[in-house]
Amino acid sequence: MNTAHSPAPLLSVRNVGKRYGDRVALQGASFDLWPGEVLAVVGESGSGKSTLLNAIAARSAPDEGTVQFRQRNGELQDVYAMSEAQQRLLARTDWGFVHQNAADGLRMDVSAGANVGERLMGLGERHYGKLRSTAMEWLQRVEIDAARIDDAPRTFSGGMRQRLQIARNLVTQPRLVFMDEPTSGLDVSVQARLLDMLRQLTRQMQLAAIIVTHDLAVARLLAHRMVVMQRGRVVESGLTDQVLDDPQHPYTQLLVSSVLQP
Ligand SMILES: Nc1ncnc2c1ncn2[C@@H]1O[C@H](COP(=O)(O)OP(=O)(O)OP(=O)(O)O)[C@@H](O)[C@H]1O
Ligand SMILES: [Mg+2]
Repeated sequence: MNTAHSPAPLLSVRNVGKRYGDRVALQGASFDLWPGEVLAVVGESGSGKSTLLNAIAARSAPDEGTVQFRQRNGELQDVYAMSEAQQRLLARTDWGFVHQNAADGLRMDVSAGANVGERLMGLGERHYGKLRSTAMEWLQRVEIDAARIDDAPRTFSGGMRQRLQIARNLVTQPRLVFMDEPTSGLDVSVQARLLDMLRQLTRQMQLAAIIVTHDLAVARLLAHRMVVMQRGRVVESGLTDQVLDDPQHPYTQLLVSSVLQP
């Protein structure tokens, strides 16, 4: 795996924290993500993974800390100092967000083609033939029969919906994609195919990604680096193989051993 870092991080997260009332959901989360790097965020249910992801993807403001993103012009920009319009533009161009539940990331009643074309239209593409051919191309890339282009995702299987959600996000060639448990809730064989596809796409497109998962096998397959969370804190981070083969923190040791035990 390529672990050579370019000098400047794409995303820089420092001391991010969030509370819900009295409950501390996230505390002191810090890490950098480099261009083209896939980072897995693992930890048990309730450890703060989604809270972290939503905080760094400008979906739910943290109570403390900073999130900085390197724009295409090379400028590092504080995500929460941006206007809402700038945040929205970022979210539909340079960023992607793949939801665990495809219905949260798709428009279930409009055609698959329109779901893929929408983000392109948001960037100003208006030519119908061009939108349709690009949508067709992307359906094929995610192994959806192009003949289904006019069908609504409501008529798709779970795996197809998830692949469509991925196509919809990647069509604008984002530089960073956030994914919250993209494969959970799918059959094991469907998961394997989706993971394989994600692996290929992230490599081909040199996509940086942050993938939340409670499944260490997903981290092993997709991620260059990983962070381990417990009770709202990052307790361990490092290269995926290192963390999984030689975990240092007792909680990571427990996670790794409980996966190995049947
Ligand atoms: N909207 C909310 N209101 C109140 N508490 C919340 C809210 N969202 C999350 N929490 C709490 O914050 C903590 C972290 O939750 P979070 O959803 O980030 O965990 P998670 O690691 O994503 O879990 P899971 O694997 O189950 O998705 C939990 O204690 C949760 O109960
Ligand atoms: Mg979650």
